[in-house]
Amino acid sequence: MDPLPGVRTLQMDFLSPEADACIAELLREPSVSAVTAALEGDAGEGELERGDGKADVILSDMAANFTGNTTADVEASLEICKSVFKFARRHLRSAESIGRNWGGALVIKHFAHPAADGFRRKILNPNFNKVVFVKPPSSRSESPEGYWVCMGWKGTPAYRKTMSRKSASRSEQEAFSEQIQQTTGSL
Ligand SMILES: C[S@@+](CC[C@H](N)C(=O)[O-])C[C@H]1O[C@@H](n2cnc3c(N)ncnc32)[C@H](O)[C@@H]1O
Repeated sequence: MDPLPGVRTLQMDFLSPEADACIAELLREPSVSAVTAALEGDAGEGELERGDGKADVILSDMAANFTGNTTADVEASLEICKSVFKFARRHLRSAESIGRNWGGALVIKHFAHPAADGFRRKILNPNFNKVVFVKPPSSRSESPEGYWVCMGWKGTPAYRKTMSRKSASRSEQEAFSEQIQQTTGSL
């Protein structure tokens, strides 16, 4: 494939231990606009400003090859979804960091199944302002694939702060801490 301007391409297994660090390094590179400004002489002297390692949008169209064995296919799909969520938890931009009400967005392809609904309910719904299921017209109706479009990453510390600002009761805060522990423990 010919290189696309402004697009960096990595070919690797997203589930490998190295993937997070490699993509994170790209997120810390100077932005295209910073490089363009420097080339056009609009930037000040000195080093180019590096990226902050955060992303506004993370989009995963990854899907494991279907085997026809529903249990194995659901498991493989959920393994990818969990790994993408772990990545998003570290790299999505929080609303607080940019002074907005809503943080970054995450789009994840998945294999529709009750186990996947559980992942959405326990992991995605509590961590985003809004999560919707989307089945684009281009996706074959007989295919179990679908997408969750997750908008407004709450950012764990910011969410905790919101909870305390609202004078959340101790039991609410404990329930939230417990949920975070379960989330990180099961990922
Ligand atoms: C539905 S296709 C995506 C097609 C792609 N968006 C395109 O338009 O060409 C699913 C892709 O996910 C990739 N994939 C599955 N597991 C992966 C993994 N662990 N790491 C990286 N890519 C993976 C597969 O290789 C396959 O190309």
